[in-house]
Amino acid sequence: MFSSSLIVAFLCIGATYAALPLPSYVKPCARSDPGFEACALDRARETIKHIVNGDRKYKIPVIDPLEITEIIVDNKGPEQAGIDIKIRNAKFYGLKDTIIESIKLNYDEKSMHMDVRLPRIELNGEYEVKGRVLLLPITGKGPLNFTLENAPAQFDTDWIVENIDGSEFMSLTNSRLHHVEPTRVHYDLKNLFNGDKLLGPEMNAVLNENWRESFKELAPPVIQALSTVIAGTVNSIAHAVEYKNVFPLNV
Ligand SMILES: *[C@@H]1O[C@H](CO)[C@@H](O)[C@H](O)[C@H]1NC(C)=O
Repeated sequence: MFSSSLIVAFLCIGATYAALPLPSYVKPCARSDPGFEACALDRARETIKHIVNGDRKYKIPVIDPLEITEIIVDNKGPEQAGIDIKIRNAKFYGLKDTIIESIKLNYDEKSMHMDVRLPRIELNGEYEVKGRVLLLPITGKGPLNFTLENAPAQFDTDWIVENIDGSEFMSLTNSRLHHVEPTRVHYDLKNLFNGDKLLGPEMNAVLNENWRESFKELAPPVIQALSTVIAGTVNSIAHAVEYKNVFPLNV
């Protein structure tokens, strides 16, 4: 459905490499430990509580609320299919409550899989929309509220090791948040159809009644934005700390 291009303008997650120690709230696990994965799960849960507040030293923005200046989907497909959406000054609330259910980490293959659950994510922002959703024409501009309840999700990523001036750093590649499957989604797009008192509430009712289908059409750019942010956050630490200190053989 989407032959779209996505632009996510995110706060400067910089690729500046530095050889800092790990932040005090990130305790490494020893690769030689037979319980390495269990340790990683434990430490990731601990880390998330701290990281949501941001950390200037490691160029990590505040994650709850997470602010994204602009999320854009340009529909490059035919006029009658798809949708153009812009969300400005997007604010996500609730990432601090993310529950990490499990982690699979393969150090040799440089890949990781995570099962997570997002108990409640509320996205507020200013939307601009034009196109079709659920085959119905939609246009409008105004305040937006998307709220997801209790969404299991999966995060997969690979990483590469880069040599920067003789030191090794890890960089996430191929990161994707997927299978985000909320048990309910609420939509509130104010001022649809130029504030039409009849059509606006009607469209909101249709979106809410068919929340699962609308989610499939409207959520991909939002999920991709979140994915970029997760990878960016991990990279902020990974680019500040030498690889050998992220995954030490022994601690
Ligand atoms: C957004 O929608 C949710 C679910 O309907 C509601 O609980 C919340 O109060 C709304 N937020 C705002 C800012 O209106």
